[in-house]
Amino acid sequence: MSLPLKQEQPMQGLSQNHLTGIAPLSVDDIETILDRAGFYADGLARGDDFTATLKNRVVMTLFFEDSTRTRTSFDIALARLGATGINWDADQSSISKGESFSDTVRYLDAMRPDGIIIRHKEYGAPEFVASHVSCPVINAGDSWREHPTQALLDALTIRRAKGTIEGLNIAICGDIAHSRVANSNMILLSRLGANVRAVAPELFMPEKFPADTIAHFMTLEDGIKDCDIVMMLRLQKERLPEGMSADALDAFQLTPELLRRAAPKAGIMHPGPMNRGSEIADDVADDPHVSLIFEQARMGVPTRMAVLDLLLNGRGA
Ligand code: NCD
Repeated sequence: MSLPLKQEQPMQGLSQNHLTGIAPLSVDDIETILDRAGFYADGLARGDDFTATLKNRVVMTLFFEDSTRTRTSFDIALARLGATGINWDADQSSISKGESFSDTVRYLDAMRPDGIIIRHKEYGAPEFVASHVSCPVINAGDSWREHPTQALLDALTIRRAKGTIEGLNIAICGDIAHSRVANSNMILLSRLGANVRAVAPELFMPEKFPADTIAHFMTLEDGIKDCDIVMMLRLQKERLPEGMSADALDAFQLTPELLRRAAPKAGIMHPGPMNRGSEIADDVADDPHVSLIFEQARMGVPTRMAVLDLLLNGRGA
């Protein structure tokens, strides 16, 4: 059963009432979010006060899967916008007492939050929640499918480092098959005109790709050649089918020697958590001339502020 949406008017800023993934977003939506995120990034750097933006709004965060980075980034974004974040602790919830997920969601909705941020291991959980509540829903990562705010903050980081996304060679490397970050990024970066490469051993390539334009490479040596951006991913151990060996990824470590094959001034990215010595060598992760990794973490806050503002205030950038 879907309940009527609280917002009577469609938003001027985005074509969507929720952020369930990158897939439903138009290029205009993506540009609107990135422009607003850039505005917040500059404002935060100057120390501007944005606490009037979502004053008196209450946003619930529901994390059914472990998260430190993403959750904290959302909490800081809410605080910077003046909203109150209420954390609904999924572990101690009534689900462990036998309540159905659908009833839990309806109870939460009955308390009339102004927004819901959800992370869940089930495919499509954010859409399910969105169809049962009367406020905007933001996907903070579901299954291996989508992690839209991560892809948006990655795009913001690239745009600010390189000035554009269109025409860049971008390699996404490692356990692509089980990574929602890879999937959301493949959709977003292809949509904005980058030449996206999926670089993974066969076992870690997805069965389907979200865009026909994505080139496939089996080795890091070939895959990162002349790339402007190299995005490394960790092995998603928690989503690996039982008995599946990860040995093929042993050769997937980005070292300073390999990095010489990328374009001069290539930027290195990683969504975190990094497994140093596995997919990335210390000397790459810590090289301030190439590493954009902590800049990604920094861009997470303004990006999430932009999404919250656009969805909860329903206005354009
Ligand atoms: C990512 C996630 O949860 O999908 N991490 C994050 O959002 N910081 C990537 C990962 O867990 O590897």
